[in-house]
Amino acid sequence: MNKIGFIGAGNMASSIIGGLLNAGFNAANIRASDPSPMEHIRQLGIELMPDNQSLARWADIIVLAVKPQALQSACTQISEQVSQRHLILSIAAGIRSTSISNWLAADVACVRVMPNTPALLGLGMSGLYATPQTSEEQVKQATDIMETTGRVIRFNNEAMIDAVTAVSGSGPAYYFLLMEAMIKAAVQQGLSEDDARLLVIQTALGAATMAQQSDVEVDELRRRVTSPGGTTEQAIKTLLDGDFMQLVNNAVDAAARRSIELSDEMDRNT
Ligand SMILES: NC(=O)c1ccc[n+]([C@@H]2O[C@H](COP(=O)([O-])OP(=O)(O)OC[C@H]3O[C@@H](n4cnc5c(N)ncnc54)[C@H](OP(=O)(O)O)[C@@H]3O)[C@@H](O)[C@H]2O)c1
Repeated sequence: MNKIGFIGAGNMASSIIGGLLNAGFNAANIRASDPSPMEHIRQLGIELMPDNQSLARWADIIVLAVKPQALQSACTQISEQVSQRHLILSIAAGIRSTSISNWLAADVACVRVMPNTPALLGLGMSGLYATPQTSEEQVKQATDIMETTGRVIRFNNEAMIDAVTAVSGSGPAYYFLLMEAMIKAAVQQGLSEDDARLLVIQTALGAATMAQQSDVEVDELRRRVTSPGGTTEQAIKTLLDGDFMQLVNNAVDAAARRSIELSDEMDRNT
């Protein structure tokens, strides 16, 4: 059984550790190291190590779960302990695998993952890229870990992680914004805040579940609920006349470009 060590025991580490325990991973094979771990992590019953170096010595799989700006320092701290027997799994947004290898000063197997916040509920979506040094068995180990928090797609081109960041990484915020706008519009129609919130969130959940379970594409689902001359048609026409499709495309493109910029900045500092 592989020993999984988390460097950084914050929100995302806590989601993944919770997912692993729920999936039946043995708590004795999971440890973390963090100068100020989340209280929740302590309650999960895993052992906390006194420092990153002892964690790296103990672990077979090292999950880098610190904020991007703290990653270089965390990698430098463990560079002497990391060897070819390790699998490095980084969930840090915007840090390329080449930066991680340089900071670790080791030619190790490295899997870069972009998760999202619904991982907290086991409804996450992760994009995964594995460097050529990573064996298929190690890719499976990384996939198995992330699948305990939701779904996983593997990409063979690391640049796709910027697209994943722009779509599913940042995506929950886009849906929250649409919900926010709909709640405000519902209140404008005279509904109470509480009723507006329930109407909007339950509708979002129902629509997402229908889209997930249906065997037809989302544009067809939309057409099926848009009767000619009806109410939905008026709303959809208003959105499309306001260039909704182009606006969403511009938003995703801006996020992807920012992800590339942030990675470039990190590369320059390497
Ligand atoms: N949350 C998300 O939705 C999300 C989505 C996609 C990707 N990610 C990625 O996941 C990573 C973690 O995010 P998060 O939201 O879980 O952050 P977080 O809650 O701030 O957790 C990070 C933890 O790492 C600790 N830490 C800092 N430096 C350390 C070091 N050298 N060694 C050990 N621990 C250290 C921090 O302690 P201090 O607080 O004392 O600094 C903190 O407890 C980030 O890189 C982020 O890009 C997060």
